[in-house]
Amino acid sequence: MSRRVRRAVIRVGAVAALAAVGAGCLPAPATEEAQQVTALYGVFVAIAAVIALVVFGLATWAIVRHRQRPGDPLPEQTHGSLRLELVWTGIPVLIILGLFAGTLAVLGRVDAHDPSPGVELRVEAFRWGWTFSYPPSGVSVTGVSPDGPEAVLPVGEPIKIVVASHDVIHAFFVPVFLFKRDVIPGRESTFDVTIDEPGTYRGQCAEFCGIYHSRMPFSIRAVSRAEFDQWLASQPAASAAPGSAAPGSPEPVP
Ligand code: CUA
Repeated sequence: MSRRVRRAVIRVGAVAALAAVGAGCLPAPATEEAQQVTALYGVFVAIAAVIALVVFGLATWAIVRHRQRPGDPLPEQTHGSLRLELVWTGIPVLIILGLFAGTLAVLGRVDAHDPSPGVELRVEAFRWGWTFSYPPSGVSVTGVSPDGPEAVLPVGEPIKIVVASHDVIHAFFVPVFLFKRDVIPGRESTFDVTIDEPGTYRGQCAEFCGIYHSRMPFSIRAVSRAEFDQWLASQPAASAAPGSAAPGSPEPVP
């Protein structure tokens, strides 16, 4: 293999590895907030990749180029270099400050509350299921079926989600939202999401809450505003999914 071909192979391999890391570590973002997280994550990965290339490249070069050969004299002995040490301390400090500022900015946007959200969804967690309700309408969906209950939400507008727990600590987690929020008894927690694309997104309780923790899935079905209004109007107030149980009811049979 000629040197040029080898170099090309290494370059293509490095780009493919980076793409695999970038694509494999995060699911495709489904909300505006998740896009911000993905963008920040991309910056982190890019900086880490550049640092890895420099560090591994220099280490490999030093090991190969300056390895000991028979009969080599003892190299010149030096004690540190103030300028070099300032540089290799200063650059990481600047990088960390930059990443810290970027993280604060994204956190601020992800945690921001829209003053006039399009919909409010109230999420109540209990062992072992969820109740989704839409406060002004009186519509509520509870389910402990194998797939869990489904919350229908409109796309393209801020949705205020309020989470509360009836018993122990649960966690509201939708992987493609790149967002997880603990659901703590006695304390309501609020956040906004703006879903970009229609679709059904799986969610799951993400805090170990007891023996049927794994049976707390749910899904979010994102639809157009018109479909959402139609769906909401078609729901009887305080509806319940088949096979559902009210909060605080006995544990589901395995
Ligand atoms: Cu609820 Cu785990």
